[in-house]
Amino acid sequence: MFNSTVLVEPTNICNLKCVMCEARCTVEAGNEKVQYLMPDQLDIMLSKLNGYISNVVFQGDCEPTLNPYLEGLVDVARKYTEQVAIVTNGIMLTPERIDSLIANGVTWFALSIDDHREQIYNGIRKYSDFKKVEQNLDYLIKVRNERNNSIFIVTHKIVFENDTIDSLKEYVKYFYIDKDVNKITFAPLVCEGSIKKKNWIIIRNKLENSLIQENIHINLSDFANYPYATLHKYCGTNLFFISHEGNFAPCGLHTRDGNNFGNLLVESLEDIKEKDVFKEYHSFWKNRKYDCKKPRVCENCYLLRSPYFKYCLNEGYEAGKCFDLEKV
Ligand SMILES: C[S@@+](CC[C@H](N)C(=O)[O-])C[C@H]1O[C@@H](n2cnc3c(N)ncnc32)[C@H](O)[C@@H]1O
Ligand code: SF4
Ligand code: SF4
Repeated sequence: MFNSTVLVEPTNICNLKCVMCEARCTVEAGNEKVQYLMPDQLDIMLSKLNGYISNVVFQGDCEPTLNPYLEGLVDVARKYTEQVAIVTNGIMLTPERIDSLIANGVTWFALSIDDHREQIYNGIRKYSDFKKVEQNLDYLIKVRNERNNSIFIVTHKIVFENDTIDSLKEYVKYFYIDKDVNKITFAPLVCEGSIKKKNWIIIRNKLENSLIQENIHINLSDFANYPYATLHKYCGTNLFFISHEGNFAPCGLHTRDGNNFGNLLVESLEDIKEKDVFKEYHSFWKNRKYDCKKPRVCENCYLLRSPYFKYCLNEGYEAGKCFDLEKV
């Protein structure tokens, strides 16, 4: 094992029903009992991963701010790392909540805001309200500017099929130039296991060039690199995922199919590491032996079929030739 981002799913519910979201958590699903990950449970699990934690990110198939114990979870996470992030739809981030999350140790806020135009945003994010989310973002920026300049603020946008270089440029100007968020991240829409905007890297490069020509220097070179940071490469994602029930997986993709390594609440890390499914995964990615059979948990992964995988792998031209990448 090596140090990774730990992605933690704090609950199984969400307050929105975004048109593109395939998470199994929406209020309308109605077939799941509400579950909250508790701080003492997180402490048990993170203590098992202690020494391998680069940073902790709260997100998953849910809206993290709906867990009333989120501040306690953040507090626990800070025992293990200095870097604690939250990915949120931003609608529940009242000034009081922002203050208490910062006081407990959140250092990075990524707000998923899919468009800078109110009507389009509201059409995508059902039950949300652009104006309210924008007010919350403005408050966050104010806090950063006036009281705490170590807070990192990101807006994250899904790139849809009808987005153009011009609409993306307007988005960058709206949030990055005019509001002064620290970073913008983009990721193309994923739909039923495949990436929709196939030529996204080409568009993204054109967008970056076009911005540079306007003297706006912004590095868009990573595929959804928010807020993952690690010295090592694990496929495109670089993380450990812990679901609200304690299921432990190599990424967020397995929370839905149940294809994971085990449960960190009831099993020891040593027991999990002894499992074949874990060993094959780690030897494949750690030894960078891209010429053999893919590990079971990654077999159907859409990332491995996409050009982003080769792009992110960045390990020389020959590496990863065994993967059957889709054409752009
Ligand atoms: C599942 S959400 C959970 C966190 C929170 N509810 C939110 O919306 O930020 C995590 C991220 O997945 C993104 N997302 C949701 N559906 C997606 C899709 N079909 N393709 C790509 N990204 C998606 C969201 O925009 C968000 O940034
Ligand atoms: S807010 Fe997040 S989890 Fe909820 S429906 Fe939207 S994208 Fe999915
Ligand atoms: S399933 Fe895909 S995203 Fe998950 S660890 Fe494997 S290659 Fe990475």
